[in-house]
Amino acid sequence: MSDPFNAEADDAFAISQLMFPTVGLCISVAAQHGLADVLDDGRLTATELAERTRTDPGGLAKVLRVLIEEGIFREVEPGIFENTPLSRLLRRDHPRSQYAMACLVGSPWLWASWGKLSEALTDGRPGFELAHGTTLWEYLARHPEDATIFNGAMTDFSEALGDQVAAAYPEFASNGVIADLGGGTGSYLNAILRAYPAVARGVLVDLESVVEQARSRPDLAQLLESGRLELYGGDFFEAVPADVDMYVVKQVMHSWNDDNVVRLLESCRKASPRARLVAAEFVRDDKTSAFVKNFDLVMTVTMNGNVRSQAEYADVFRRGGYELTRVVPTSTAFSLVEARPSR
Ligand SMILES: C[S@@+](CC[C@H](N)C(=O)[O-])C[C@H]1O[C@@H](n2cnc3c(N)ncnc32)[C@H](O)[C@@H]1O
Repeated sequence: MSDPFNAEADDAFAISQLMFPTVGLCISVAAQHGLADVLDDGRLTATELAERTRTDPGGLAKVLRVLIEEGIFREVEPGIFENTPLSRLLRRDHPRSQYAMACLVGSPWLWASWGKLSEALTDGRPGFELAHGTTLWEYLARHPEDATIFNGAMTDFSEALGDQVAAAYPEFASNGVIADLGGGTGSYLNAILRAYPAVARGVLVDLESVVEQARSRPDLAQLLESGRLELYGGDFFEAVPADVDMYVVKQVMHSWNDDNVVRLLESCRKASPRARLVAAEFVRDDKTSAFVKNFDLVMTVTMNGNVRSQAEYADVFRRGGYELTRVVPTSTAFSLVEARPSR
């Protein structure tokens, strides 16, 4: 018969092990100090790594060893470290780099929101607002350096997955003009334009300061010059481009409550009454992955956003004058929620 006292002791140890908020933070610290860039394709001791990154070798080795548990970096011999496929994604020059995303998650101004999660659950305001006294978007407008990290993180994620999301919806090809609302610095729209040469023009809609970052992206220069990509800076609650064939959004609807999404949908309908809308978002269901559950909590802590279920999407679309027609899975955690104007 099993000993209940030992079982409880095992459980106490098991739950204690889960209480360290270290992995995400250590990934961020590794990115902020450029460890993967410095290691490059070589092997270095903790002392050499610390010298090159001006960090403390003892602390650095501890950060590395926590990450090694997760397959991020490898200790090839005692005290000698090298990159792994996962740590290479923290290199700035990796084609699917997650460097900016990693910097973002542990940046002190965002991390402060997590300290307010408990208060947020009773207060009702997002942790970010409790920590900073303002909304995330207003904060970013006033802190351009932090906004560069935030927009870089969005770009990282879209650059890594945008092609796969775009590939899941061949119907993009039958639209002349596609407007991406809250499209960040243009990675997703660029993926659509790249995959579907039949699309004549893409219109990137985001706040003025964000589309300015898109304007300076070398990889978008040719599209901008040819006029196939157009920038439309401004508040999408005030105005959206008119006479387009399709609106797309990616990771935007989950940032806003239903009333705001309805406002956005109503202005889309007014500006382009026949255009469909295709939203690349996470959709909550009974098989929701741990990633999406964590992401849902990030939404709560940063902006009181929500990952919606299909029924919740259908409802918010209906209120905004659209009918949800299909939810198309992609090979990523995103689904494409397709809606057409209701009659
Ligand atoms: C979570 S990010 C997603 C960016 C991009 N769609 C992507 O998937 O990488 C949300 C975007 O909405 C933009 N945004 C927030 N409020 C906005 C507003 N009122 N008008 C236009 N864009 C806005 C932000 O600047 C940001 O780029």
